[in-house]
Amino acid sequence: MVQIKFALPVCKNVNELRREVARQKLVRQGVGLVPTMGALHEGHMSLIQKASKSHGVVILSIFVNPLQFGAGEDLDSYPRRLQEDVRLGSLSGATVIFAPTQDSFYNSNHQTTLANFELENLYCGEFRPGHFRGVLTVVAKLLMASIPDTAYFGKKDYQQLYLINRMVTDLNIPVKILGCVTKRETSGLAKSSRNEYLSENNYKKAASVYQALKDAKKELKSGKSWIKQRKEGMEKLEKEGFGEIQYFELVDRKTLLPQKKYVRPAVLLIAVYLGETRLIDNLEL
Ligand code: PAJ
Repeated sequence: MVQIKFALPVCKNVNELRREVARQKLVRQGVGLVPTMGALHEGHMSLIQKASKSHGVVILSIFVNPLQFGAGEDLDSYPRRLQEDVRLGSLSGATVIFAPTQDSFYNSNHQTTLANFELENLYCGEFRPGHFRGVLTVVAKLLMASIPDTAYFGKKDYQQLYLINRMVTDLNIPVKILGCVTKRETSGLAKSSRNEYLSENNYKKAASVYQALKDAKKELKSGKSWIKQRKEGMEKLEKEGFGEIQYFELVDRKTLLPQKKYVRPAVLLIAVYLGETRLIDNLEL
């Protein structure tokens, strides 16, 4: 028998996906979903690997969701490479790819969006109006399309993960959400599809973002005031040639609201420009 190496079923619409998942469920236990926008890197692959440890059916969704991109953002230039993603998905343990066309996934008269009134305009939301409505809407659609037992998301996008957890709780969506650790380069830079936009020089420099988080964690733990540390951390990044620091916040992990003083459990969130590239990262305390 001829073995085709990376032959995974690629479903182009929801009906095809449901049929394929039902077929696979007859022979395999449990369904895991890993939503992505493609251009897979080791961060995405670690989510797929994790899903495949616990589930027989592992759906990798690849969809560059127009609803979460604002005007002037990188929707058109976002890297798209389905064939390579199918290969990497297959190597990591996916058993089915969901790569819907935009027209099949959003009907032309799409009118409904989901919103988190308290947090959608904070942090990333302040600088990307409408972004989280787009994220929540597409994630809800992906969950409904596949009804997995568990869906896997990275802590790299901390606010996104928090809002998805809230949505699933608030709307009684019967899916377990699992947050997974951030994969990093040896330099500490969090892996991201957008790192491809960085020049060679900036790619090296970008590791300072994680360093700023680690420095802040160390200082906060030894009792330094957040106001002082925040100022020093931002000045250091500016001196190194970073552009706009959109936010650098100490946040309560349970509510995701800002803290003035460090109280556990907390998380540091940062978004900063380096050249034309916007980098986000975070560190739990
Ligand atoms: P995307 O940026 O492709 O990321 C897909 C998933 O991979 C997200 O859960 C993200 O947090 C996770 N991820 C990204 N970088 C990671 C890293 N270095 N380590 C671990 N996990 C990482 O996030 C999205 O797509 C979209 O907003 C999506 C949820 C798919 C909705 O469109």
